[in-house]
Amino acid sequence: MTEVPDLRIGIVGYGTMGRAHSYGYRAAPNVASLPMRPIVKLISGRDEAAVATAAATYGAEDWTTDWRDLVGRADIDVVDICTPPGTHSEIAEAAAATGKAVLSEKPLGSSYEQAHAAWAAVERAGVRNAIGFNYRRLPAVALMRQMIADGTIGDVRLWRAIWLSDEFTDPATPFDWRFDRAMGGTTIADLGSHLIDMALWMVGRIQEVIAQSETFIRNRPAPDGERPVTIDDASSALLRFESGARGTIEMARLAVRRPCDFTVEVNGTKGTLVFEYPRLNELLYGDAGDDPGLYGMRRIRAEHPSHPYAALGWPIGQGIGYGQTFVNQAVDLVRSWPSGAWSPSFADGLAVQAVCDAMELSAAERRWVGIAEITSALDRSPGIPMEMSR
Ligand SMILES: NC(=O)c1ccc[n+]([C@@H]2O[C@H](COP(=O)([O-])OP(=O)(O)OC[C@H]3O[C@@H](n4cnc5c(N)ncnc54)[C@H](O)[C@@H]3O)[C@@H](O)[C@H]2O)c1
Repeated sequence: MTEVPDLRIGIVGYGTMGRAHSYGYRAAPNVASLPMRPIVKLISGRDEAAVATAAATYGAEDWTTDWRDLVGRADIDVVDICTPPGTHSEIAEAAAATGKAVLSEKPLGSSYEQAHAAWAAVERAGVRNAIGFNYRRLPAVALMRQMIADGTIGDVRLWRAIWLSDEFTDPATPFDWRFDRAMGGTTIADLGSHLIDMALWMVGRIQEVIAQSETFIRNRPAPDGERPVTIDDASSALLRFESGARGTIEMARLAVRRPCDFTVEVNGTKGTLVFEYPRLNELLYGDAGDDPGLYGMRRIRAEHPSHPYAALGWPIGQGIGYGQTFVNQAVDLVRSWPSGAWSPSFADGLAVQAVCDAMELSAAERRWVGIAEITSALDRSPGIPMEMSR
């Protein structure tokens, strides 16, 4: 067997995403023949005992309690950021300054300004960059996008998406970074960033939005008493796409008995596509050309060898789960090392952040907000490519 060189990853953060990304790197060589072998060289976290345990559990070679050590190490090729949103831009900027490739979890920042700083840093440094919109790498979602792009459902008229979770339903859930606007961003950005990414990827640019937000549980228990919640826990919006398509979006973390349910539906001139996360191996397809006697939707098993990512999964009928999105992500990134483009990139993360910020501003001011209102101040700075300033 030919030996392949190591692609040395440093993961910042050992929580849920530190675990998910490590899993992806470990499983990737098991499902694909890769030009490099991804290895988690180092993992960082602030709690010494916890990060040491995580390193042993996830198979990381070493650990540190300071992310700056990780970013500065000469034997790391890729800095993989798995910390809260409010920390992403500082870490990304430091990593880019050392010439390392960067993968950041979503959202790119906790504001457009932060996301812009992260994006400008990787552009300036000319380093490879990617953002963790992992749901793009579900075979059924990738197939949905492919069927829209190849014209199967005609011109898109309507796009809608809902993401519901119950993680904030219990008022006794203690305050942590997720309830803090500065560190966690918003529910719009937490759940909605994935959906907005899919909207932009499937339908194109959004021109303007009008949104509403609510915080139903306004204080959370904390060791020193109570702390005020500074984020929305439910939001929704109407979207106008530049293409003329119209959309709706809703995200909530207070939906009882909804663990992590999202739905994306697109209605085109010739057909409808519906993806429902609880049935993530399937895609519903309604075809206007079908025999009227067969009125209804086909339930496509998005596991056929002809479908995206099928080669990385199991034989048809076995299905895949959430963890496979991180395996597929690792395979895509390693396969295009060292010179291929990474996608989705920080530019995609920045475009999503603009829509998140527009929704937040719209809800606060109770009016339609154009995306250009968010992007224009920063994107007029010198050196910003035209396509980002539109
Ligand atoms: N793509 C997905 O499916 C998905 C799912 C969950 C979370 N995320 C994103 O991944 C990122 C991390 O989320 P997570 O669920 O892994 O979080 P987590 O709370 O499980 O882990 C956070 C990690 O960051 C570290 N950390 C560094 N600075 C911190 C600070 N100031 N406050 C708190 N923790 C700090 C913690 O020590 C911990 O190791 C977030 O941006 C989140 O939006 C993505």
